[in-house]
Amino acid sequence: MVTRSDFPEDFVWGASTASYQIEGAHDEDGRAPSIWDAFSHTPGKVIGGATGDVACDHYHRYKEDVALMRQAGFTAYRFSVSWSRIMPEGHGAVNAAGLDFYDRLVDELLANNIAPWLCLYHWDLPLALHENGLGWTSREIVPLFADYAGLLADRLGDRVTHWATFNEPNMFTMLGYGAGVHAPGIRDRDRWLDAVHHVNLSHGAAVRRLRDQLPGGAQIGSVPNLQPVRPASDNDQDREAAARMDAVMNRATADPVFLGKYDPLTREWMGDRIRPDDEAAIYEPLDWLGLNHYSPHYAAARANAFGFRSMDPPEGAEKTLMGWHVAPDAFRDILVETSKRYSVPVYVTENGMADDVEPDNQGQVKDDARISYLDRYLGALLEARAEGADIRGYLVWSMLDNFEWAMGYGPRFGIVHVDYATQVRTPKASYHFLAALARASPDA
Ligand code: NOJ
Repeated sequence: MVTRSDFPEDFVWGASTASYQIEGAHDEDGRAPSIWDAFSHTPGKVIGGATGDVACDHYHRYKEDVALMRQAGFTAYRFSVSWSRIMPEGHGAVNAAGLDFYDRLVDELLANNIAPWLCLYHWDLPLALHENGLGWTSREIVPLFADYAGLLADRLGDRVTHWATFNEPNMFTMLGYGAGVHAPGIRDRDRWLDAVHHVNLSHGAAVRRLRDQLPGGAQIGSVPNLQPVRPASDNDQDREAAARMDAVMNRATADPVFLGKYDPLTREWMGDRIRPDDEAAIYEPLDWLGLNHYSPHYAAARANAFGFRSMDPPEGAEKTLMGWHVAPDAFRDILVETSKRYSVPVYVTENGMADDVEPDNQGQVKDDARISYLDRYLGALLEARAEGADIRGYLVWSMLDNFEWAMGYGPRFGIVHVDYATQVRTPKASYHFLAALARASPDA
């Protein structure tokens, strides 16, 4: 098993969450709906009709949750801001009560020696923007997103140390605009590509705004989900398909943001969406890359618009409750490749697995499979470091069991179990496993 001394002294340990997945308080203190409120309240979109109306009630219980982070020895916490909580329409009027919540949260984190890592966007677009044609499919969103970033910089810039623009820009554009299985439920290749490009432009505009307003200290990054794409077979067509899937799933958002250039395949698909100065507008040097990773992709050739189809993991592969392949070697490979390709410090900002383990008769949550997963993935991270990858921290997904988007509350990703009926939190065995790694000394 990995041990504390395998990691450098200054290695960052922490956890990640997202606003809509944990906060609840969906209509309190002036919060307006996001596209996820509308989507989850549409029958048939989320398993079991689950919504984020209450979720983990973190809005009211954040102090208890921050105390659990401190007791774990975590020194970093990545959370996201609900845009429609602080700007109900997505632009214009500011909701002071909403901003106050993040102010309290940041102060609570700092009082517990936990660095706030604020993510501007984790998938909950203000519904008003979408309904008024100002969502990600419109280029007009770019200055609005920069204004939203500016508002947060203004209010929290004196205390927030780490800023991320987008969480998994590649995934939410694909799931929400390409496949239609996430909010806002659009299934259209052109709208997907529109969204990708506008998200990339919004990233650049927001980073410039943050740099202008936060001269000096701010550590600014972005958080792609990167998964190595493996061909389903060794034939040339499947290998070609894997390269195409890699382009659309990994490179379309990461390359322009971290290298300043779309790769040739994405460029071909984007066509005249890319105007002459766009790549320069997207690219701003960043301080860190947050890597979210769970498992590899598999691709086979298919004569569709992108030239690939996504395949299941091979027969007999070890899988989690989500059906995702447990493959620590893929984690090692993507860490090494990402560090090399983008030449920027990497923090793992999400990694973990879903199960459905409940407390036993003694009230203990024995999530042994998660411990095994974390141990093997952290082992892979150490291998990547040994190969020269600049990996500086590990933030597990997730601090708490939470609303797993279209899957509802079935899959539990937390290191802390949440009883959704009572809101009782129970640290799982995996919490203690990570705490043993995170604590510099037993009484930290
Ligand atoms: C990706 C997302 O960032 C997060 O919101 C989600 O819950 C986890 N990975 C697990 O699917």
